[in-house]
Amino acid sequence: MRDDSPSRTAAFVAAARQLGALLPPSAQLVEDPYGAAFASPVFSRLLERRQDSLRPFALIPGLSTWILYMQVRTRVIDDALRAWIEGGGRQVVLLGAGYDCRALRMPELASAEVFEVDHPATQARKKSILTRMGARSPSHYVTWDFEQRPMEDLPDVLAEAGLDVKRPTFTIWEGVTMYLTDAAIDASLRAIRAWSAPGSQLAMTYFAKSRITRPSFVTRAMKAVVGAVGEPWKFGWTPDELPAYLEEREFRLVRDIAMADAAYELLPTEMARHVASPDRRFALAAAPESIAVVS
Ligand SMILES: C[S@@+](CC[C@H](N)C(=O)[O-])C[C@H]1O[C@@H](n2cnc3c(N)ncnc32)[C@H](O)[C@@H]1O
Repeated sequence: MRDDSPSRTAAFVAAARQLGALLPPSAQLVEDPYGAAFASPVFSRLLERRQDSLRPFALIPGLSTWILYMQVRTRVIDDALRAWIEGGGRQVVLLGAGYDCRALRMPELASAEVFEVDHPATQARKKSILTRMGARSPSHYVTWDFEQRPMEDLPDVLAEAGLDVKRPTFTIWEGVTMYLTDAAIDASLRAIRAWSAPGSQLAMTYFAKSRITRPSFVTRAMKAVVGAVGEPWKFGWTPDELPAYLEEREFRLVRDIAMADAAYELLPTEMARHVASPDRRFALAAAPESIAVVS
């Protein structure tokens, strides 16, 4: 990421989330009335006022795939988080939060403390746009650059911000792992484990390594775009190596699914077939009781 500029990819995904409102009702999996404002206030107002006339745009090939993919990606995480909250969980960390507005849009989080960690430039822009919209997020904000500041310091900084590291935490790492180096991934997982008391969970999205090393024609075009805005894709796991990688960092893999398969679970078939992404994946991991917390 560039030091002084807010994340552009965070704005792309936030806008795509709100564009889900243009899909047919059976394909709307997430309601996010905030996302478009992070791409452009004009676009956001247009979307609010002209929703019906804009509906055909959501069916444009390519754009529809992107919007549907974002609905599935965010919904699988929302569902895992809801299940964990129903089980009594009360602390959530959004790592690389970007313009994720779960703290505002999910009523289930009213009883939870939400901590948002992100790059200073992105977080500052988020706060300023939410203030302009008159939205008062209950989140606790922490700024961090995952590549520049030692990740082993982050658990203490989160504790100073109010996170109780002796109580379980649900950490969300959505759309972030692909932008980090191998070293930052390793350091981040060890840091997450350090604030994950038994009963904690980690929900993340990741790229299968093949998406980085052998991209298709369309993926090469997307890779060029994210590279051009200063946020190149760098990292992936092969699904086979993920369980052992997590175990070495004292996490147990609970679920690992391709977004393409999650799409068939969540969307009508004729919509799901557009999310043909075997190499974009969701994983849920648990911090088991039996393993001591790493420091
Ligand atoms: C594609 S966005 C995803 C944002 C959000 N999680 C979502 O799904 O809406 C990637 C996020 O990772 C953050 N990020 C990437 N590299 C980072 C770094 N080195 N330090 C801190 N944040 C970083 C960006 O600021 C951005 O918010």
